[in-house]
Amino acid sequence: MKTVFSGIQPTGKVHLGNFLGAIKNWVRLSNEKNKNYFCVVDLHSVTTHPNPKDLNSNIEQTLKLLVAAGINLNNSIIYPQSKVPQHAYLSWILSNFCQVGELQRMTQYKEKADSLGSHSGIFTYPVLMASDILIHKANEVPVGDDQTQHLELTRNIAERFNNNYGNVFPLPEKSSGKSGTRLMSLKHPEDKMSKSSDDINGTIYFDDSRDTIMKKFKSSVTDSSNVVKYDIDSKKGISNLIDIYASINDISHQEVERLFENSQYGEFKIAVGETVSDYLSPIYSDYQELEKEDLSQVLGNNLDQANDSAQETINEVNSILGL
Ligand code: AMP
Ligand code: TRP
Repeated sequence: MKTVFSGIQPTGKVHLGNFLGAIKNWVRLSNEKNKNYFCVVDLHSVTTHPNPKDLNSNIEQTLKLLVAAGINLNNSIIYPQSKVPQHAYLSWILSNFCQVGELQRMTQYKEKADSLGSHSGIFTYPVLMASDILIHKANEVPVGDDQTQHLELTRNIAERFNNNYGNVFPLPEKSSGKSGTRLMSLKHPEDKMSKSSDDINGTIYFDDSRDTIMKKFKSSVTDSSNVVKYDIDSKKGISNLIDIYASINDISHQEVERLFENSQYGEFKIAVGETVSDYLSPIYSDYQELEKEDLSQVLGNNLDQANDSAQETINEVNSILGL
């Protein structure tokens, strides 16, 4: 049986990029016969120096949202990272198998060091991410395209540990859908849709109303050609909308082009807005129900199970290292 691990930071509100790049695939995997761990990686969020109240409510919101999105809890464990301190312990161990040069090459580090100031938390962030993945010995990691480099680093770290101490860790593979792996801002289609973006009109949030969603799509930036054709180089805006429509409806870019070959952009934008709104609205209404419930009720014994699995790996690592 395959073990799947993935994580999401509770920094700001969950957006459509998180759903299509990650959570939608988590839901699919949770309905297959895997052992799945989906983690709200709150220790990673400390890199942004969040306000404690905001962080606390974002953690709870993100955990409940994963349940509302439809992750099957029969095969999956959902938990907050900071409640399983073994993640951080393994991170220390694994930092000894990661080179400074490797961390310096991480594009996300270079981008974030500019905006957050370059503290060592942002620098060593990928080692903690590798620990998240390896603590449960995951084989598969469903993430968006922005995480490819971090996954490669995780494999290098695992391989280096294994070369020294025997075959302890599997070499995890990245997985993603055919589309929706890198959603762009609706206002600045050259930039990634992200939680930290100040450009709220370029991002679709999980709790946006149908009205807001329609407005954001109607005012999304496209080009003047008015032909619904996927061309990532010269038609970034419209390609992004095609990608969103394809991802939600599980069809290819070509099928979207065919469906809308006689449509003007105005009509297509409305269709994309409606499809997004139809996708998000049942998730949001389930979330509103869960919001009233106690988090520990929602998650049951998930945390205990995550702890047991993590401790098993730590016991093995300690014994192998002679600790
Ligand atoms: P984060 O919000 O950075 O914690 O990301 C959580 C998950 O969402 C990761 O798997 C990311 O790769 C994915 N993700 C974040 N932003 C996007 C985006 N704009 N398009 C597709 N996937 C994304
Ligand atoms: N770095 C990821 C992001 O920014 C979040 C993350 C942390 C993660 N640990 C992980 C994703 C482990 C997958 C597996 O999106």
